[in-house]
Amino acid sequence: MQDVIAFVDANRKRYVDDLIEWVRIPAISSDPGHTADVAKNADHLAAHLRKLGAGRVEVWPTAGHPAVFAEWLQAPGKPTLLVYGHHDVQPIDPLSEWVTPPFEPSIRSGRLWGRGTVDDKGQVYIHVKAIESFIKTVGKLPINLKLIVEGEEEVGSVNLDKLLRDHAKDLAADFVCVSDTAMFGRGIPSLCVGLRGLAYLEVFVDGPALDLHSGTFGGGVANPVHALAQMIATLHDADGRVTIDGFYDAVRPLSDTERKEIASLPFDENEWLRSTGSPATFGEKGFTTLERVWARPTLDCCGIQGGFHGEGAKTIIPARASAKVSCRLVPDQEPDEIARKVQAHFAKVAPPGVRVRVENLHGGRPYLAPTDHPVYDIAKRAFTKAFGKPTVFMREGGSIPFVRTIADATGKPCLLMGFGQPDENAHAPNEWLDLENYHLGIKSAAYLYDEIARMT
Ligand code: BES
Ligand code: MN
Ligand code: MN
Repeated sequence: MQDVIAFVDANRKRYVDDLIEWVRIPAISSDPGHTADVAKNADHLAAHLRKLGAGRVEVWPTAGHPAVFAEWLQAPGKPTLLVYGHHDVQPIDPLSEWVTPPFEPSIRSGRLWGRGTVDDKGQVYIHVKAIESFIKTVGKLPINLKLIVEGEEEVGSVNLDKLLRDHAKDLAADFVCVSDTAMFGRGIPSLCVGLRGLAYLEVFVDGPALDLHSGTFGGGVANPVHALAQMIATLHDADGRVTIDGFYDAVRPLSDTERKEIASLPFDENEWLRSTGSPATFGEKGFTTLERVWARPTLDCCGIQGGFHGEGAKTIIPARASAKVSCRLVPDQEPDEIARKVQAHFAKVAPPGVRVRVENLHGGRPYLAPTDHPVYDIAKRAFTKAFGKPTVFMREGGSIPFVRTIADATGKPCLLMGFGQPDENAHAPNEWLDLENYHLGIKSAAYLYDEIARMT
């Protein structure tokens, strides 16, 4: 193990340079204009893995963007670890707010700046470089390892279920590890033991066949922007609770132990609030901020459109309006069931004079880890070795659809060993990766493989 760790130290700079090359590829999965780039991105990773001498490296096509698969099975009798990540990235708008261009990665203040540096290319490379460090010192990995890197995570992993079904045999493993989350705070190794699920919908409100002159027609027909605003205003009550019928039906209440665990973390609410830039915290009554963002279901309107957006005034009754709505879910809520309840709610509150239609775009199920499984102690030990600090359990409010899907399909625990920072600007302008975390992350992954090898 010493040789492996020494190799990680000796190659610290090159490992960053290798990542920089990959970050240059603008693999924005949501933008049809970048479809070829996402494919190029997958090929780049596959070529990089082939150079490491993987037993098998394949690019798996899907109905959407391709995934990359690789395996190293040279440890007979040892456990098999499946590592998951995603190679696609979020859009870059607003571009004018980036200090340096999103796909020209640059280093400032010990951070690598660029789209995808932390979400999730840097975290994928943490594993790739841990693998490389073993291969170039010991000649092989101490465990059997399979790597699956998806190209559609940021667009809801819509083709993932089929991919997992088609390749069930290839993906069989004893444990799963996902590195696509953030640590609780600077230098605090953190295992994420809960993720929220997601139901994402779009609401369309149609009124007149075309924009009407508001002088000629105002007072005569319903205004779709008003109708939509009224409907959105019905979604929460004064206590910040979602008013949709049955929304909370399947919610497993937080136990006293769970609440104590969350409360025991060194959470600085003022610092957290400052990082958001909002003037005050806000949300469902009766729960702490961490409980609300990690372990309570929420509903947010993510965007709203309708009517005249240009400069100055234009007197119209808009023909249509629409809104995008996301629900973050907790066990045991089901995305499709929640989507149906949201649809029923909009049908119920639709005011007269407009047509309302709700589309269910995509979803993902929530995850709660079986933390009493022995692999959690192993992961804690590995993480603590690399960072020299005790590992904490935390949750995240975000979603990674793969996690629950693979946990259910394999019946195996899914370790969420993340190396991001809470203020990493994921999905926002000026995304960055902490290079110390990248370096210690590579060591953590190497220690994880080593500790798993010692289990048996
Ligand atoms: N890496 C994130 C998931 C995440 C978010 C983990 C926040 C920890 C904290 C992932 O890439 C992501 O952005 N997921 C989407 C999922 C969606 C598109 C299905 C999300 O949470 O919005
Ligand atoms: Mn991610
Ligand atoms: Mn993301």
